[in-house]
Amino acid sequence: MRTIGVALLGLGHVGGGVVKLLAENAAAIEARLGARIEVRAIAVRDPGKGKRVVDVDKALLTTDIDAVVRRPDIDLVCELIGGTTEAKAAVLAAIAAGKHVVTANKALLAEHGAEVFAAADAAGVDVYYEAAVCGGVPIIRVLREGLASDRVEQLWGIVNGTSNYILSTMTETRRAFGDILKDAQQLGYAEADPTLDVGGGDARHKLAILASLCFGSAIDCDAIAMDGIDTVEPIDLDYAEKFGFVVKPLVIARDHGAQIEARVHPAFVPANWLLADVSGAKNAVYVQSYALGPSLYYGAGAGMLPTAMAVVSDIIEISRNMAMTTRPARPRPREARPLMPLADIRARYYLRFGVHDQPGVLGQLATVLGAHRVSIQTVVQDADREPVWVVVLTHEAREGDVRAALAEIDRLPAVRERARVIRIAS
Ligand code: NDP
Ligand code: HSE
Repeated sequence: MRTIGVALLGLGHVGGGVVKLLAENAAAIEARLGARIEVRAIAVRDPGKGKRVVDVDKALLTTDIDAVVRRPDIDLVCELIGGTTEAKAAVLAAIAAGKHVVTANKALLAEHGAEVFAAADAAGVDVYYEAAVCGGVPIIRVLREGLASDRVEQLWGIVNGTSNYILSTMTETRRAFGDILKDAQQLGYAEADPTLDVGGGDARHKLAILASLCFGSAIDCDAIAMDGIDTVEPIDLDYAEKFGFVVKPLVIARDHGAQIEARVHPAFVPANWLLADVSGAKNAVYVQSYALGPSLYYGAGAGMLPTAMAVVSDIIEISRNMAMTTRPARPRPREARPLMPLADIRARYYLRFGVHDQPGVLGQLATVLGAHRVSIQTVVQDADREPVWVVVLTHEAREGDVRAALAEIDRLPAVRERARVIRIAS
């Protein structure tokens, strides 16, 4: 039986999961693939580290990535170290050595995907990345193959498990943000730098990859508008519930023809939407496409075994490709359409103002909003404190108009606290 030699770069949560899954499911994988997959080297930062997620033969451990990726007995390199500096160098070195690559690294692909894929195409090797978006949910395969004959119009997603875990747990328990984040780190969901999770950067990386696949366009990741969940306060969760919503960390992408709308932010999601029920570290992507209509993809977006499952599936697919005499075509962005400026997007808004409880204040808020074409749907005043909260839900409005109105309102003498804004999914 043929044996595929694999080098793992990284033996953390995901790398450890890959070792475990390959060992536990070896017989089933061999039967499905008709080949054996053998881990022949594992690069880590510290081979002397005491406790690891899995026990491995210490002889496999090395710090010398350059030497590993050039070894003739290695067919495929799995990059699971994360970050964009060493990971990029490692992936490009593997490709230059003629090795296929599997990576779970969305930051690398969102920021340097064009360079990586160009190098892979020139070298005639594959780069697979199912685990990079939504952990174990096979959304990359869905967009690349399942919907290959369709045309995606828009996509809504919960793609960061850590943010969803924090917001869901805050909603259920009102425990403090920092404590819940610590749990997410211990469970292996969070990035090495958790500000990527809670600040929206991780979701932005994933959205850039998804939008590029959906719309066949290169996406400038840094230009995607982004707000993290770190701006959401417990009182916003209370108001969401009061109005029949749940706060979720959303990514949204829409094809507007000449432009692409792409944004990352917490949003009020109607409680009767399927996405409102996606809790904990679960991820979901709701796709609206021309032929299929709406479809929903749901599952574990982070964690050791779900993510490892996606990595191993990529290893299996590449191993199958290796047995083929011709290399299948790879979808690459056909163009680079610009992103729609944030000021031009249209949404409904939840606005929370901290104002003095005095005559005429509501009228002033309504006048300024109206002058900027922002129409009020609902208004509530919570008089149990000073300053009082005035909460407004708007009809659909242009973001630029809402921001201009808020800038004016923040300067009113009666306003004590700057307006808080959360977009409403509709
Ligand atoms: P961890 O921090 O748990 O593990 C990282 C591993 O990489 C460690 O074994 C570390 O070595 C090794 N490493 C780091 N830098 C180097 C280096 N310069 N040279 C050699 N080895 C190095 O990360 P995760 O497993 O959680 O994440 C890995 C990748 O998977 C990231 O890109 C992440 O975004 C992605 N991902 C993670 C998910 C998750 O649920 N955790 C889900 C989906 C994707 P040592 O052990 O010696 O410190
Ligand atoms: N930190 C990421 C998350 C891991 O929480 O979703 C999965 O990509």
